Amino acid sequence: MQPFLKSKLENTGISIFTVMSVLAAEHKAINLGQGTPDFEISEELIGLVNKAMQDGHNQYSHRNGLLALREKIAEKIEFLYGNKVDPSIQITITPGATYAIFTALTTVLSPGDEVIVFEPAYDSYVPTIKVNGATPVLIELQYPDYKIDWQLVKEKITPATKLIMLNSPNNPTGTILTEEDIWQLREIVEGTDILILSDEVYEHLVFEGNQHESILKYPDLFERSFVVFSFGKVYQCTGWKMGYCVAPDQLMKEFLKVHQYNCFCCNTPVQYALASFLNKKNEYLQLPDFFQAKRDYFQSLMAQTKFKALPSYGSYFQLYSYKDISNESEFQFAKKLTEKAGVATIPVSAFYQNGKENQVLRFCFAKKEQTLNEAVSRLCNFQDRLYK
Ligand SMILES: Cc1ncc(COP(=O)(O)O)c(C=O)c1O
Repeated sequence: MQPFLKSKLENTGISIFTVMSVLAAEHKAINLGQGTPDFEISEELIGLVNKAMQDGHNQYSHRNGLLALREKIAEKIEFLYGNKVDPSIQITITPGATYAIFTALTTVLSPGDEVIVFEPAYDSYVPTIKVNGATPVLIELQYPDYKIDWQLVKEKITPATKLIMLNSPNNPTGTILTEEDIWQLREIVEGTDILILSDEVYEHLVFEGNQHESILKYPDLFERSFVVFSFGKVYQCTGWKMGYCVAPDQLMKEFLKVHQYNCFCCNTPVQYALASFLNKKNEYLQLPDFFQAKRDYFQSLMAQTKFKALPSYGSYFQLYSYKDISNESEFQFAKKLTEKAGVATIPVSAFYQNGKENQVLRFCFAKKEQTLNEAVSRLCNFQDRLYK
């Protein structure tokens, strides 16, 4: 007889990213669904990892991460956000940002706690909150510009509110927090014990000269925050799964207690390579222009179709409404595009717990021009067949 097992995530199936990627492979579709760049990463960075391995840096490193890397991150934070964080305790290197989010939430949440989550939301947030026995309090961003309704946030705060999750630039919407949002947030948390988890993995992908409103810029907010980053999104090496968390002493001490019994430490040679590569400021300073050009190029191609672009101010992503093409549900239409047009996307309804429909799909434009050309040419073809 099999033992009885009560699932901690009863209603959780396979993630939409896996579903769409499997479908894309089956139908040889161009995968604009998954947020992974398809161009080569820096050869110099690869060389540095190689060198670190050959130099013998192949054993466990410090629990908090290689000190040299933490020091370089602290320098970068001071340079970008004017905040002097202490690399000896306030930074921990993690195997990706998702791990950092999981660890931060596991560190602070207990059954009965409530966590404010804005939807559409990155897919790991809600399951991680639930695994920890806490309750996600879901607040919809306002379609079509996906702004936060701060009045609604105030109404949802209760004595059980433990934490507010933020994500700017936002996946999947491409919206960014403004200074006004920061003021509103401050008004809500001031004088409370509410914590903040700020997912800033797309910190460098902010367009049109806008500034990234990092929580690290605001000492009064940072003192109650975990701020999470991903090297995968900075150096386009998502498969390396390397990131870090920045938090004040008291929060980081607790974070480390959980971290040390999970992965304990991260890939050592990669940390050596990143510590050296971070000296090259231009590698990250050129990212806004590089990705804005990609977004603009993709938009100029998509202008030939009946898809309507929603504003994207940052991230790898661009949302498109297909209202003028089909009445089908987002999943049905995304499936049809994959099977019949040969282009895979992600239905935005998958980023809502209640599957909310706005007839919007997420496209990833972090791809070679050749890939974007072929994808849009397939969409035009599909559209022509549809209207013939
Ligand atoms: C908003 C957001 N947070 C976190 C991550 C995950 O980052 P990592 O690959 O470093 O775990 C992603 C990846 O797509 C993301 O979009």
